[in-house]
Amino acid sequence: MSPIAGRSVIVTGAALGLGAAIARHLAGLGARLALVDYNAGALAETAAACGQPEAAHVADLSDATATAEAIAAILARLGRIDAVIHNAAILDPKPLAAMTLSDFQRTTNVGLQAGFQLARAAWPGMAEAGRGVFIFVSSRSGIEGFADETAYCATKHGLEGFSKSIALEGAALGIHSMTVTPGMYMRTPMSERNYSDALKQKWVEPDRLAPAFATMIAEPERFSGQRLNAWTLATSDTP
Ligand SMILES: NC(=O)c1ccc[n+]([C@@H]2O[C@H](COP(=O)([O-])OP(=O)(O)OC[C@H]3O[C@@H](n4cnc5c(N)ncnc54)[C@H](O)[C@@H]3O)[C@@H](O)[C@H]2O)c1
Repeated sequence: MSPIAGRSVIVTGAALGLGAAIARHLAGLGARLALVDYNAGALAETAAACGQPEAAHVADLSDATATAEAIAAILARLGRIDAVIHNAAILDPKPLAAMTLSDFQRTTNVGLQAGFQLARAAWPGMAEAGRGVFIFVSSRSGIEGFADETAYCATKHGLEGFSKSIALEGAALGIHSMTVTPGMYMRTPMSERNYSDALKQKWVEPDRLAPAFATMIAEPERFSGQRLNAWTLATSDTP
């Protein structure tokens, strides 16, 4: 039996792209899912494809109240959470001089604020059980700067620090945390909007990266505090 079978896992940004691929893969391994996204139609399709229509929790993760309500509904349905994969993100490239406060807050809220809300809510149950995993999907933008990506880079850099601190606080409690960059060009709606034609020649289906997330959930102590590469992890045994 897969070590993922029966685990309760939250996946954010699960309607489309990498998040949907992760959800389908984990469902195939027997995980009990809670899928969060604001695209209700596509989220329902993902949940149905996972064979868990009840797993769809529609929420705009930039809205703290909507996020809190979704998390409360998830905890009421699933009880304790074994793993959180915070994958939702907004990449809306814009020069700083054109960015409004609400643009900036929408991006940072989906990444950082919602990441905090998820971690804060899942933490007590994980601590009581003595086990839990947080996986924050990052990017090269988590360690490098890019022009027109101030909000996105700030968010991904923030998630890197957030995860490292959780890994330290969680170590004595059996709670592990890591970030992961895709490590390969993926064919997703975000890529469709932002890649050059040349990059679109190289992209792969996000399903190819999804097995990395099962490995991280199955062996979290191996990776806690680290920044991983999903492509490397999915295509070799040694990250
Ligand atoms: N696509 C790439 O090449 C690439 C590169 C590096 C990192 N990443 C990261 O990988 C992850 C997945 O990327 P992707 O390409 O699948 O993205 P995507 O934009 O294709 O999909 C993101 C999902 O998040 C959801 N989402 C966005 N804003 C939301 C909100 N406010 N509330 C709820 N849901 C919301 C979307 O509806 C969508 O289902 C992201 O964290 C992204 O930053 C992607």
